[in-house]
Amino acid sequence: MLAEAKTNSDLNRMIEARTNGVPLEQILGWAEFRGLRVEITPGIFVPRYKTEFLVEQAISLCESDSAVLDLCCGSGAIGLAIISNNPAIQLLASDIDPLAVSCAARNLAPFGVEVFEGDLFEPISEKWKGRINVLVANAPYVPTEAIEVMPRESRLYEPHISLDGGYDGLEVHRRIAMAAPDWLTTGGHLLIETGENQGSKAAKIFSQNGLTSRIVHSEELDATVVIGTKFPSTVTTHSAV
Ligand SMILES: C[S@@+](CC[C@H](N)C(=O)[O-])C[C@H]1O[C@@H](n2cnc3c(N)ncnc32)[C@H](O)[C@@H]1O
Repeated sequence: MLAEAKTNSDLNRMIEARTNGVPLEQILGWAEFRGLRVEITPGIFVPRYKTEFLVEQAISLCESDSAVLDLCCGSGAIGLAIISNNPAIQLLASDIDPLAVSCAARNLAPFGVEVFEGDLFEPISEKWKGRINVLVANAPYVPTEAIEVMPRESRLYEPHISLDGGYDGLEVHRRIAMAAPDWLTTGGHLLIETGENQGSKAAKIFSQNGLTSRIVHSEELDATVVIGTKFPSTVTTHSAV
């Protein structure tokens, strides 16, 4: 904070905000994510260190000219990390929260990426159907009842919609998995971060929607990612667990 404060009163204001539980990144206006400086508007979700594992997995599945969709993009940190690694990809990003959308648009502007506002796939042009190679989402996955026991920083200063994953934390994942086969290329991948104890249920949701699925886990980052792949025989069944 010392380095960011321009005046003593700035510093006092920052210390007071921090004492009240405002996340440090919202006070500073930026977060470090995979070695990048990502702008964070106060009032949006702060990207987590563990999500770098989701980025690693996505990067490992990208070809040089892949079309990548960062759904529920928040600040755009995931998409920014992926396109910074390979500026030749075509990146799309979207979120339902207008504050997050404008923050992501600023973060992704150097790469000329357009960020769309709306509910999941709704703002994405139909022309992308069947053309997404890598669909990556760190969607909300906290079970509704668990939100009240989260740290104050999240509960009070990150939007409820960025945390609330419904009764079992997987409601948004169900909706994404149901729609994903329509948007993915044959051989395309859907990658979603979950809690460790949600991985097998999420994998089942993927399978029931015609995606093969596997779970990868990083002990070091305490991060779990479910990866689904659309193979030629994938039938869009639109079923939910
Ligand atoms: C857990 S935050 C993750 C943000 C970002 N992906 C990251 O990892 O930093 C979830 C994001 O999903 C967005 N979101 C929640 N429900 C959504 C929906 N129905 N459609 C699109 N975005 C949604 C929230 O606004 C929030 O930015």
